[in-house]
Amino acid sequence: MKTIQIINGPNLNLLGRREPDIYGTQGFESYLEQLRLRYPDLQLRFMQSNHEGDLIDCIHEAGYACDGIVLNAGAYTHTSVALLDAIKAVPAPVVEVHISNVHQREDFRHHSMISAGCLGVICGFGLDSYRLGIEAIIKHQA
Ligand code: DQA
Repeated sequence: MKTIQIINGPNLNLLGRREPDIYGTQGFESYLEQLRLRYPDLQLRFMQSNHEGDLIDCIHEAGYACDGIVLNAGAYTHTSVALLDAIKAVPAPVVEVHISNVHQREDFRHHSMISAGCLGVICGFGLDSYRLGIEAIIKHQA
């Protein structure tokens, strides 16, 4: 059974309540239940943290223990060299995902510090961006 780690960064614990016009009204836990029903043959692990170091620790651990990582680094996407280095330090492929289309938003969201270390980037499909990230990892490993 393949294991995929989903990682959510800062402020994504508030999904469903945070800026619902941008991020929607569904909380991540209920979306995760749907994902697990859709992929009974995958072990889907999930963590969320508002702390950069915790995200790095999780990438280090999951990056050696799992078959892939789906990472929404939130605002750290645009700032964190440390996350880029963590992604580059581990063998598992990392797919960068965003709920919103960051390119339709403020200029500071147009640049990602982490994309260069990732297998690819998916953004703008709402919560479905995570499912597309999982699909990308499955196809990459096939
Ligand atoms: C986000 C986009 C980021 O710019 C923002 O800081 C987030 C969420 C997204 O999923 O659309 O926190 O990563």
